Amino acid sequence: QENGHEKIDYVFKVVVIGDSAVGKTQILSRFTKNEFCFDSKSTIGVEFQTRTVTIKSKVIKAQIWDTAGQERYRAVTSAYYRGALGAMLVYDITKRQTFDHVARWVEELRAHADTSIVIMLVGNKADLVDQRAVPSEDAVEFSEDQGLFFSETSALNGDNVETAFFRVLEEIY
Ligand code: GTP
Repeated sequence: QENGHEKIDYVFKVVVIGDSAVGKTQILSRFTKNEFCFDSKSTIGVEFQTRTVTIKSKVIKAQIWDTAGQERYRAVTSAYYRGALGAMLVYDITKRQTFDHVARWVEELRAHADTSIVIMLVGNKADLVDQRAVPSEDAVEFSEDQGLFFSETSALNGDNVETAFFRVLEEIY
């Protein structure tokens, strides 16, 4: 497969999941376009964006899928997870409920995705330090318990977004 003059060695599909408004779309835009949009709309249906990166001298095209966190827009499940090698499971560090729902998202992944899928738990909006409602330790404990990777990010200032995606891509590779 060719991308301009670059030869693609692998295409890795990664899905982004989590409750509505945790910042899934913004994390994706930050990683693929280095952009943040202040008036982002809720995602309807499924969209994907790509970014080509080099890992250990192999050219990897990351195909990252984004869908609505809102239940009423989610008719997709099986097709959405099909072929996914990685998952970014996002919650909002300022909204406890979005973290309390993470276990359900893990169940959905275990039910529909490949058993070898690499899962990164992502606590987003880490820039909102004064509004923190989920201590990092809670997420660390949950991740260790469930065998997930964990990172806190800010799509707004870009902190850790790239590192988190690269960690997942490297782990898949
Ligand atoms: P759905 O499409 O409904 O599932 O939502 P989503 O998870 O894709 O959320 P989206 O990316 O649309 O972001 C929701 C809101 O959170 C928007 O108002 C963003 O501007 C804001 N937001 C996203 N990421 C961050 C972040 O890292 N920091 C701050 N402060 N706000 C953020």
